[in-house]
Amino acid sequence: MIKVVVFDAYGTLFDVYSIGALAESLYPDSGSAIATLWRDKQIEYTRLITMSDPQGVKGSRYYQSFWDLTRASLRYTLERLELTYSVSAEDALMGQYAKLMAFPENIGVLQKLQVRGTATAILSNGSVSMLETVVASAGLGELLQKVISVDGIRLFKTSPQSYGLVLEEFPVQRDEVLFVSSNAWDALGATWFGFRTLWVNRQSLPFEAIGPRPTYVGSDLTKVLEVIA
Ligand code: LAC
Repeated sequence: MIKVVVFDAYGTLFDVYSIGALAESLYPDSGSAIATLWRDKQIEYTRLITMSDPQGVKGSRYYQSFWDLTRASLRYTLERLELTYSVSAEDALMGQYAKLMAFPENIGVLQKLQVRGTATAILSNGSVSMLETVVASAGLGELLQKVISVDGIRLFKTSPQSYGLVLEEFPVQRDEVLFVSSNAWDALGATWFGFRTLWVNRQSLPFEAIGPRPTYVGSDLTKVLEVIA
């Protein structure tokens, strides 16, 4: 019995690759490369920070927010692709990131879950303020009970502590959570943690070659309604 549906934010509810069009207009012929490398580097930096804990020995965990890592990874991406950095281009791309569009079917799915009385939440690496902004600008604010950020514990997904935040917010067992992510690595981390998982494979990619398969696989968010029916 699934008691709460928890969504990843970036890539699952919000279309991170929609920034490719803006990147393409700023840097012709490089939009897609920017979007892909930017995303990969951003996630790599979250793992680097969570795994390394450079100042942990002194008792204070080193941390940079997802917003700061997003900016740092954009700078790396432009340098790596040998594109000219400008403050205005960075501001435009970061501004777009703050207000990403939701995938088209998402509002309808969240509305149906609300009518059904199913609890819903976001669990994201995103910092609190960036999540508040993107949720509001996509019009999802009334459709989610909780927006949970890893910011408070300074440990990014796929740390077990990050998935554990869901159990602090909802009085449920792990297998009563349906965790929904378009990121295969995130679906895998949540499966390892003990959640039931739905991998939304929007781009027809292969799943990770390690670990267990997710409990369910779909091609868009409407699969959630099928799973909990
Ligand atoms: C999130 C990113 C990693 O946690 O997709 O929202």
